[in-house]
Amino acid sequence: MKERIEELKRSFTEKLPSLTDKESLEAVRIAYLGKKGYIAELMKGLRDVSDKKTAGQLINDLKNEIEGALGARDEELASAAIEAQIRSAKKYNPTLIPERELGSYHPITLATREVEAVFERMGFTIENYAEIVGDYECFEALNIPKHHPARDMQDTYYLDNGQLLKTHTSAAQNSIMKKYGAPLRAIFPGRCFRNESTDACHENTFFQMEGMMIDENISISNLIYFMKTMLSEVFNRDVKVRLRPGFFPFVEPGFELDINCEICGGDGCPSCKNSGWLELCPCGMIHPAVLREGGIDTEKYTGFAFGLGLTRLAMMKYGVKDIRDFNSGSLKSLSQFKSI
Ligand code: PHE
Repeated sequence: MKERIEELKRSFTEKLPSLTDKESLEAVRIAYLGKKGYIAELMKGLRDVSDKKTAGQLINDLKNEIEGALGARDEELASAAIEAQIRSAKKYNPTLIPERELGSYHPITLATREVEAVFERMGFTIENYAEIVGDYECFEALNIPKHHPARDMQDTYYLDNGQLLKTHTSAAQNSIMKKYGAPLRAIFPGRCFRNESTDACHENTFFQMEGMMIDENISISNLIYFMKTMLSEVFNRDVKVRLRPGFFPFVEPGFELDINCEICGGDGCPSCKNSGWLELCPCGMIHPAVLREGGIDTEKYTGFAFGLGLTRLAMMKYGVKDIRDFNSGSLKSLSQFKSI
């Protein structure tokens, strides 16, 4: 019995180094420790042994030794497998662009950034403003008292508490004047809302980019210069524009700056209401009453303001025929604009 135990011990120790995978490990485990394995065989043989206690002890020791050795080998194999996996894996590089397809910017975001860059170079700060505003900012502070007919064109969505979704970015003029005082150069893009019947060139939700410049001796020539510079930089080519009188209670004099329709080249199409021109950038000299309401000394300062239709600009720049495409959520049309 003793010899048999020694022999099994030797044969097991010899086999151990060759066990390099789970299958061979399992086969040896069954051969030695299984129900019909060598250890079970030894146990059966105990019947014929006189010193059962010592022999039993020896068998038990062998069994424990084999179990321990197989367990340790199993762990070794598992950690070696993990290490091999780590070694063969590509090294993680946080600066690598992921292999999946990247998203794209919305064309309005692209147009906004482009206009912002032009004005930033000319010393304008970029301001952010709320979409939910009060009646005061949106109308009263802009020389549009209650019951003024100009309110008709700017019907919007009202909240129960009397606040409203801003109808134009001009709603930020008053608080920006109060924040910075004069002299001042600021642009403030934003989403605007109106109760509109929608068609190819009207939407109930659209973007504007407001701009204000207040300083000593600011005149209409400054206004025209900045508008022309912005348009030629954004379009990278000469675009035909026309300036005509326009009425807004918060500017005096006021203008409509129209751009030759880039979709039809001026022949007339649904995108320009068949006129060949598109109202792109209403503007004017800020009304003294509005400056005063913003705490600006009107003896010393004058200024201009403009309300660039960002959504329309994006239509003209990218040749988008229908304004409603921008809010459509259709990736097929919106993901075509990848450049910045
Ligand atoms: N806020 C005006 C509108 O949305 C546009 C505008 C802005 C006109 C600034 C003049 C000066 O209709």
